[in-house]
Amino acid sequence: MKKVHIRRMEEFDLDQVVEVERLSFKTPWPKEIFYQEVVENIYAHYFVVEIDQKIVGYAGMWAVIDDAQITNIAIKPDYRGYKIGEQLFHYIFQQAIQMGIRRLSLEVRASNIIAQRLYRKFGLVPGGIRKNYYTDNQEDAIIMWVKL
Ligand SMILES: CC(C)(COP(=O)(O)OP(=O)(O)OC[C@H]1O[C@@H](n2cnc3c(N)ncnc32)[C@H](O)[C@@H]1OP(=O)(O)O)[C@@H](O)C(=O)NCCC(=O)NCCS
Repeated sequence: MKKVHIRRMEEFDLDQVVEVERLSFKTPWPKEIFYQEVVENIYAHYFVVEIDQKIVGYAGMWAVIDDAQITNIAIKPDYRGYKIGEQLFHYIFQQAIQMGIRRLSLEVRASNIIAQRLYRKFGLVPGGIRKNYYTDNQEDAIIMWVKL
């Protein structure tokens, strides 16, 4: 796999990001939500991963004082399984540490074992369950977290 480049998400990235999103989730976020996150939400920090100047994945978090929540992470299907998601997660994890975050958490579908395995590699452990959290299929969300 070629060299990856990770940088902050910008407004001009949104069409490519929405494409990654559409290919990754059953109920994808529309462009307007990414616009709010990148342009308007001062608590949001989003990053893209590029190969040959094309966006192949993204991740984001909300950070308030010393608490952060990963909102999402996705890699384009053709690029999965090459440790790109892990590099991106490592990057956002380091960003959180540099920002003084003490507690990092996220929600993940109970059935999404692949993502849970990725998060466990960074020390995140299950801390609770939100029953019937996902409206498309009433699936539970597992809350995972780690102290930094
Ligand atoms: C989750 C996701 C970001 C992982 O990205 P990726 O680049 O494919 O993952 P990597 O190649 O970096 O693998 C990192 C770790 O994830 C886990 N993993 C990745 N693919 C896996 C698979 N097919 N089966 C089991 N575990 C897997 C493993 O723990 C792996 O580490 P290991 O190879 O040392 O065991 C990607 O699968 C994705 O975009 N999924 C759809 C969107 C999604 O579900 N996002 C999470 C929302 S909470």
